Amino acid sequence: MKPKIFITRKLPEEMVAPFREKYDVRMWDAEDAAVKRYVLLEEVKEAEVLWSVVSDAIDREVFETAKKLKIVANMAVGYNNVDIEAAKEHGVIVTNTPDVLTETTADLAFALLLATARRLYHAEEELRSGGWTSWSPMGYTGMDVGGATIGIIGMGRIGEAVARRATGFNMRILYHNRNRKPAAEEAYGAEYADMDTLLKEADFVVVLAPHTPETVGLIGERELALMKKTASIINVARGGIIDEQALYKALKNDVIWAAGLDVFETEPVPLNNPLLTLPNVTALPHIGSASIRTRIGMMELNAKAIHAVLEGREPENRVV
Ligand code: DGY
Repeated sequence: MKPKIFITRKLPEEMVAPFREKYDVRMWDAEDAAVKRYVLLEEVKEAEVLWSVVSDAIDREVFETAKKLKIVANMAVGYNNVDIEAAKEHGVIVTNTPDVLTETTADLAFALLLATARRLYHAEEELRSGGWTSWSPMGYTGMDVGGATIGIIGMGRIGEAVARRATGFNMRILYHNRNRKPAAEEAYGAEYADMDTLLKEADFVVVLAPHTPETVGLIGERELALMKKTASIINVARGGIIDEQALYKALKNDVIWAAGLDVFETEPVPLNNPLLTLPNVTALPHIGSASIRTRIGMMELNAKAIHAVLEGREPENRVV
């Protein structure tokens, strides 16, 4: 019997084809829907490889069901969707896809920052719906990005790439991170700040921290209240790092000026999420890494790791 690979989302055939001869490749191939939970649990029973995406909950039950599993190759740099402790206990390797998505995600962070600052989606919506009736001196006005202060929470690879972009906009760069980053301080003039100082001084707070038990609810009512009334918050990391209820209240009551969100506590974001009713929210469907080249690069890293494990070699980008 050929070893079985289960892939939780439809991937381009050229990524999958190299596995077909030697392995029994099974793929959830619905174009636009996440794998059903019961299908995942059925398919992993015999699988040696689970090729997953960020929206799959690869939890303890999966590891308990998947008796033959050797590797979870997760198509994301973040791996909060995988129960790492359970993976360790079951002796399953987990790999992720760092580096290839750094620049693409930083581009999106900056695009969202600009779109939020200049209210681009609101302005475009007005134009398309016939709301643009005349040029108005204060119509559609937003906030300046050039020369403003950016506060980056989480100065990892993507944080540094955002800082690099910020230098081009002549911004003052504050950052907060578990460890200081002398190289980034040197290269981009970034200043280390404690959280409260960063929140008080930044015009644009950009959340790039990983989703861990320590960062869940990191930005709540108290933290939002520290921010300037004219400041915006941008989240391209993970939902849940900002408390959505507190954020809603802060935006509604003009405690802060605006938010740009690529990630949500529940994804896909339910249409009744109150944040979507606010004109000062710019919302995107978790597209940080969504360029063609980057998504292919992420799959290539997954494929390499899977080949390595199936051939008895140590994979790159192993997180456990
Ligand atoms: C990641 O890689 O963690 C992204 O959020 C998925 O695009």
